[in-house]
Amino acid sequence: MTIPAYKNPILPVTERIEDLLGRMTLEEKAGQLNQWFNLGPDHYDQVRRGEIGSGLMANSSTAGNNRQERVFAKLVNEIQKIAVTESRLGIPLIFGRDVIHGYRTVAPIPLGMAATWSPELIQAANTIAAKEARADGIHWGFSPMLDIARDPRWGRVAEGFGEDPFLAGKLAAAAVRGFQGNDQDAIPQKFPADRIVACAKHFVGYGAAEGGRDYNTTEITRQTLHNIYLAPFKAAIKSGCGTVMSAFHDIGGIPLSAHRYLLNDVLKEQWGFGGFVVSDWGAVGELINHGIAADGNHAAGLACNAGVDMDMCTMVYLQNLPDLVRAGKVSEARLNDAVARILRIKFAVGLFESPYADPNASQAIHLLPESLAAMRRLAASSMVLLKNNGILPLCSDKLTICLSGPLADQRQALLGCWTPDGQEEEVTTLKEAIAGRLGPEAWLHHCELSDDAVKLARSSDVLILALGESAGRSGEDNCTATIDLPAGQEALVESARRMEIPIVAVVFGGRPLNLSRVTDWADAVLFAWHPGITGGLGVADVLFGDVNPSGRLPITFPRSSGQIPLYYNHRPTGRPAPANSRRHSRYVDSLDSPLFPFGFGLSYTTFEYGNLRTAPAPQKPEISVTVEVTNTGNRAGTTIAQCYVRDIVASVARPVRELKGFERVSLAAGETKTIMFRLGPEELSYQDDNGNDVLEPGRFQVWVGGDSNAELGTEFEITL
Ligand code: BGC
Repeated sequence: MTIPAYKNPILPVTERIEDLLGRMTLEEKAGQLNQWFNLGPDHYDQVRRGEIGSGLMANSSTAGNNRQERVFAKLVNEIQKIAVTESRLGIPLIFGRDVIHGYRTVAPIPLGMAATWSPELIQAANTIAAKEARADGIHWGFSPMLDIARDPRWGRVAEGFGEDPFLAGKLAAAAVRGFQGNDQDAIPQKFPADRIVACAKHFVGYGAAEGGRDYNTTEITRQTLHNIYLAPFKAAIKSGCGTVMSAFHDIGGIPLSAHRYLLNDVLKEQWGFGGFVVSDWGAVGELINHGIAADGNHAAGLACNAGVDMDMCTMVYLQNLPDLVRAGKVSEARLNDAVARILRIKFAVGLFESPYADPNASQAIHLLPESLAAMRRLAASSMVLLKNNGILPLCSDKLTICLSGPLADQRQALLGCWTPDGQEEEVTTLKEAIAGRLGPEAWLHHCELSDDAVKLARSSDVLILALGESAGRSGEDNCTATIDLPAGQEALVESARRMEIPIVAVVFGGRPLNLSRVTDWADAVLFAWHPGITGGLGVADVLFGDVNPSGRLPITFPRSSGQIPLYYNHRPTGRPAPANSRRHSRYVDSLDSPLFPFGFGLSYTTFEYGNLRTAPAPQKPEISVTVEVTNTGNRAGTTIAQCYVRDIVASVARPVRELKGFERVSLAAGETKTIMFRLGPEELSYQDDNGNDVLEPGRFQVWVGGDSNAELGTEFEITL
């Protein structure tokens, strides 16, 4: 018996897809576009009928489930067997899950990962996550989240790479490669068997939610869309990201899950994206709530015609697309295109040849010692030292430490948001990490900071206060009206300060927090994000100087909530702000400047930048910028050299500064290195309102230094 062409692995994928499309009914086609969650026996008939193309694993592994008993692979195999052997065409399902920062070996939240400014570390972390997830039967992870955020009240700021499109773009590419294992700038024809498909989300502009309230409406100009919000998505697509998730919100009245210009014209046509678009959870059905669709049928037509290929969890595609095609409201060509995009990814993942997972694989790959070590390095590299009057690093010998504060012995808080596979009991807390590394004559007292504890604290050499937010205070649907510390924490620091012993504040958080007072009162402040399963160890590595902090802020820290939105790459205005002048864009009751600027972070050593030179490349619009970086302190350290550019005169006002290059530079005490940034058309152009690159000749300014306030700068000219 001859096998059908689509089952023949020797044939080119396009031929196999063509063959399969020719055999499918409209209902089966709509079924491929239908994703449903937490599949179980109740859904097996639908799977048999070919009505479900993808399963979304939303089950929590911590909600009363014993992890050992809940092996996804078994469940995946059970469902897959029905799809493959009992449905008419035997098309396998693709299983997706929120693999956001690590899987079981939980990594720091993405905002913390971004603070490493290290594509290498992020790629390595996502490789670990992909391998762990794939071993559990997961084929597809819903990350990276590439929403630029300028409002830290928005809870999902924790899930993204911060405020800068250039940094986020570089990290996006690394995150995608880590997941997918691709070394080419294209969607892999064949994914490695131990990797998963990435999903760039939430396309696009979700981070601009008004008032920082999740799901809220946005107003974003084309200029800002193309130059700021779309940029990291473009980088992810360029590096071969297989899928994209359309967002919940609307821009100027058009919900993103019905936004034809962005989904079709920009993403698919202009950028040539060949993977598929999945809606966010329920977003197609929510077109009714947005008030642009009358019912499910209407919503399905709008979303499909706009370019959403897969409907996450509303069933409206399944229920309506066949009729919409029969009625001529959605073309069969469009339906076929959506199906073909999904099948292409299923073929690339190898699902037709190897649909099943190995139920024993996860035991061998989860929580490997080398994975834990990599996450610990990543966590330590993500910490940002915001203040240090010399108290840090601590010496682990002969030291009496008093540890207090609400997060001193917390597990869940360290895991961060979106960790369905993290296990609280596998987290090392800060208290455990400090206790585990104290020298023989050192003491650790852990206490609530009450009157009784004052004596204890007074007789200590240092007080470490673990402050900040719990994990559940950031992430989806966890927005705050202010960025102040949770109630009572400032008062805690204030009362501690009266004891007159050195205070080290370790602040955990999923967003920039208002640390104005804490920074005044504490002797040292270390911002630790939500650092993941090995986060306590990572903090201790930094506190005791095994790791010299090298994290830098991927997002501005305002002085107060009232300054929001505050970001470094703003436009100049007609009244730029000279120091102490009146009548420029400013407040009368607050400084204009942030508490800590984008790119900021201290080290246990100091760095100096000098000898900045530029040299034009012959015959092309490109300039090289060289600078010497010196470690001027007395211990080895790593700095992140940052290169900022300004286009002085252009047809549209360009930002006062834009990051266009960065490099992690490790230097021994006293050592100097010369580093170079190349600025060519990619770095020097901006996008017009249609997303076309525009490079205008003229003068540019460039600065190189340790943060976005870098002062060492010069000018250069670009001629075309
Ligand atoms: C979130 C997405 C997530 C999806 C699937 C939605 O609520 O916005 O980021 O990937 O659920 O769980």
